[in-house]
Amino acid sequence: MDFADTIRGLLAEQPFLLAPMAGVTDAAYRIMCRRRGARLAYSEMVSVAGLAYASNKTWRLVLPEDEEPQICVQLFGSKPEQFAAAVAAVQERVGDRLTLIDINMACPARKVITKGEGCALMEAPERAEQIVRACVGEARVPVTVKMRTSFTTGERTAPDFARRLEAQGAAAVAVHGRSAKQLYTGQADWSIIDDVAHAVDIPVIGSGDVFSAADAVRMLDETAASGVFIARGTYGNPWIFDDARALACEGMPPVVRSYAERLGALREHLGLTHRYLPLMSRARTYATWYLKGMPHAAAWRGSVVRCSTYEEFMALIDEIEADVSTCR
Ligand SMILES: Cc1cc2nc3c(=O)[nH]c(=O)nc-3n(C[C@H](O)[C@H](O)[C@H](O)COP(=O)(O)O)c2cc1C
Repeated sequence: MDFADTIRGLLAEQPFLLAPMAGVTDAAYRIMCRRRGARLAYSEMVSVAGLAYASNKTWRLVLPEDEEPQICVQLFGSKPEQFAAAVAAVQERVGDRLTLIDINMACPARKVITKGEGCALMEAPERAEQIVRACVGEARVPVTVKMRTSFTTGERTAPDFARRLEAQGAAAVAVHGRSAKQLYTGQADWSIIDDVAHAVDIPVIGSGDVFSAADAVRMLDETAASGVFIARGTYGNPWIFDDARALACEGMPPVVRSYAERLGALREHLGLTHRYLPLMSRARTYATWYLKGMPHAAAWRGSVVRCSTYEEFMALIDEIEADVSTCR
């Protein structure tokens, strides 16, 4: 069995994946989603240049916590030899729980593309090929690539680009249906996902504007993609994976979660954040996502911003719980 078949098998079991999100998909976030049906989850993107002399702090972005059975690690950079060294180091440190290495050729951030990294590689296909070749030469796991429609809006370079990377040994590609110039604006164009899936023999994962279980299932129905990345659709809704699976397999509509259940999940999420990467800035962001749509959410968001310890957060959730129970 080749690596494309390995990925095909994984996606056949569970086609809905937690997409990589820098600043978001840390261990706590991944565990929240895993406990609710995300079988495969990605790390935040990690710089191959940084890994060469990485501190334990950087490695925390890559290494799975004890209760995580697997991890997909996403790397970004521009130098093939740095990629090869990073793949070797990640394999050694993560060990058997490393499912795949993904190469980021999708990031549109200015500080990334100005260094020839991320989506800038779609403008440098030969360099992109060298990078894939370098990673494949070193890897004992599948090497995949995440890309966009194109670098420039109005062009559709992804199908040809994907074919070139497939020829270098990429085991799958993910396609976000926007150009780098679009950043996250406008609507994602799913037809490019379909075009790429028809251009290559390796599995394709679609990405862009999947905000509900129904969107996730629709992407599988409307394109030839084998898998679906869920990114912003997980904000405050880690249940989206179970919901998408129930909808796809049994035609079951998504369960409506009570305020109590949502606050319980927020408590659980903050507990995991406190244990694994106690960054209050992240905790505040996650909290506002779970509170969206609740009674007096705007006022509670103001209180969230003032929380500076885990204990204050827990006390605030007690208060919110008491408030929403009287609202009902
Ligand atoms: C906050 C944030 C961080 C992201 N970081 C990454 C990243 O590190 N690597 C990557 O390939 N894509 C990254 N993405 C892109 C997502 O994986 C996804 O392709 C994109 O958000 C489109 O999906 P959506 O419209 O369903 O959110 C990020 C997106 C967001 C919103």
